[in-house]
Amino acid sequence: MLSGKNILLGITGGIAAYKTTFLVRLLIKAGANVRVILTNSASSFVSPLTLATLSKNPVHSSFVNTDEGTVSWNNHVELGLWADFMIIAPATANTMSKMANGVCDNLLLASYLSAKCPVFFAPAMDLDMYKHPSTIETLDKLQSFGNIMIPATSGELASGLHGEGRMAEPEDMVVFIKEYLLSGLPLKGKKILITAGPTYEAIDPVRFIGNHSSGLMGFELAKAAAKLGAEVILISGPSHLTISHDLVTLIRVVSATEMYDEVHKHYSSVTIAIAAAAVADYRPKTVAEQKIKKSASDFSIDLIKNKDILLSMGELKKDQFIVGFALETENEEENAKGKLKKKNLDAIVLNSLNDTGAGFGKKTNKISFIDKNSTIKTFELKTKTEVALDIMNEIIKRIHV
Ligand code: CTP
Repeated sequence: MLSGKNILLGITGGIAAYKTTFLVRLLIKAGANVRVILTNSASSFVSPLTLATLSKNPVHSSFVNTDEGTVSWNNHVELGLWADFMIIAPATANTMSKMANGVCDNLLLASYLSAKCPVFFAPAMDLDMYKHPSTIETLDKLQSFGNIMIPATSGELASGLHGEGRMAEPEDMVVFIKEYLLSGLPLKGKKILITAGPTYEAIDPVRFIGNHSSGLMGFELAKAAAKLGAEVILISGPSHLTISHDLVTLIRVVSATEMYDEVHKHYSSVTIAIAAAAVADYRPKTVAEQKIKKSASDFSIDLIKNKDILLSMGELKKDQFIVGFALETENEEENAKGKLKKKNLDAIVLNSLNDTGAGFGKKTNKISFIDKNSTIKTFELKTKTEVALDIMNEIIKRIHV
């Protein structure tokens, strides 16, 4: 969720500032880019060097840098615009009051006023300050501007008193932010099953029948679906690709039979299923226990048909939206529509081997998306990352109608 996100962290002068070192670590571990602005009083509570080391970026605290005889300007507008979102933590009563009234007497406040992105703020103060009518009014005003409050919690405070006003723990802040980001996404709460890659059908302990599928299309679909908020179960045949996302569970299989079994462990619980795997249609009837020797001059292998995984999903379909792939060399549209009908699909993605740049082992693809009403949308040649997003968008349009 946070991978690749630009996060501007504004730290103000409260004892909870020391906890922001943990927050920076968690954000960096989640793959975010973090830049930190520290107010002057915050630097009494937490060291700029610690934050610079953890965030892997210089820490800013004033408008002007005068290092080593040169003078440069910390551009608050650039910082505000760089951010995908801003977190102000801890947010002291003083800073929040200034934020609520447009006061702009430090770099943090100038960046806050320049930021166009969502701004989270995590109040932290003593319990009586937290309950004061002016604080309550400030919190309401800040939220009415669209800022998102990460509520303070109850517990022991720096004063020794017990009550409300503790800054949320860094782990809880990260969960809160992820939940918030997720809530705005179109596939939040939806579970998607995706098959990917080739399957290998064993001949003997060292040989197999396989194909050249890299799995890239399926992995890109999984990434796109997760980015749009879906929980993804990615079932992949042998592929060198990896994926790391909170919302994606990768299950690796080898043969079509294993893929079939894994699919049916999850199929009944999903809303959407996409079969992007290049499943072997046949497998050797028997698998030799020992490596086959090259003694005979002729050699043949008896093959039997694998179960069609997608067809089986179509047969068991309840409310699922099912999408298949068709790779065709002739009568493309007609063949794809035939597969859509035969397998009881909601849509089929057609790639034609006649299109240069499309298909196995390529980083690009050229597809047509055909739904069960025979509506066809043809796309330009694009990277598989872009194609995956196009496919997800076509699905989203149809599951929300
Ligand atoms: N598929 C599957 N299980 C199989 C075979 C195919 O799930 N055993 C899925 C693929 O993931 C893809 C679609 O079915 O989504 C492809 O349909 P298919 O009829 O197998 O296409 P081709 O393999 O191209 O068939 P043919 O060779 O008959 O054209």
